[in-house]
Amino acid sequence: MRTPDIVLLPEELRKKDLTEYLVVMIDVLRASSTITTALASGASKIIPVFFPEEAKKRVIEFSSCKILLGGERGGVKLPGFDLGNSPLEYDRRSVEHKTVLLTTTNGIRTIELIQGAAEVIIGCFLNIQSIVQYCCSYTGKILLVCAGDRGAVSLEDTVCAGMIRCLYQEQQKDCQKNGTECDDSLIACRMYREFGGDLLNMMKISIWGQHLSALGLEGDLAYCARENIYHHIPVLRGGSIVGIGC
Ligand code: MLT
Repeated sequence: MRTPDIVLLPEELRKKDLTEYLVVMIDVLRASSTITTALASGASKIIPVFFPEEAKKRVIEFSSCKILLGGERGGVKLPGFDLGNSPLEYDRRSVEHKTVLLTTTNGIRTIELIQGAAEVIIGCFLNIQSIVQYCCSYTGKILLVCAGDRGAVSLEDTVCAGMIRCLYQEQQKDCQKNGTECDDSLIACRMYREFGGDLLNMMKISIWGQHLSALGLEGDLAYCARENIYHHIPVLRGGSIVGIGC
């Protein structure tokens, strides 16, 4: 049993060798929630692409009725794109049987940074119990990587990572209080205890949550605060994200 460790920012990974780790990427608002929702709505796969221009160029690799361009900058849908980064846009009617080329600021950048890991999965509150179960059945080392916001820690990712670690410890009856390489895990678990009982309120006071609310996207906060509405686990396989446990 290996209690998952946490890094609150992808910048902390520096040159960390991830080849032996299962890495859980967490970007609650909103890349993780959008990817989870898209796959639960029947999207065939998500292809993460950091640069919007590259995503636009890659559209020609696919038949036009099977491909969608999705993503944001500053939380706002990109010009010429089919979809933004609101999980509420990724319903069955829009995405079933489609491949989505997705570009976002922090979530996709983090996925690019961790792609050398033994395995990469995507977590959020929407699928949190499935993520915990997956971690419990994994026998190797586990690292929970919060995407944050352009080098700044984000509250909602921290609380989600703390929740995964605490639920893991409860379910494994793991009383190990230390066993962590840094204070990030201790901070995340404290933040989970502080805010875990009211996720929506936590998101309303977080900096990115306030930004999304100012854009009129309060509905995204209410949605992303829901727990365990999906059992899907998005997993990175050969440059694409597909759903397992569907
Ligand atoms: C990101 O990847 O930076 C976020 O998902 C931004 C957003 O809320 O759209």
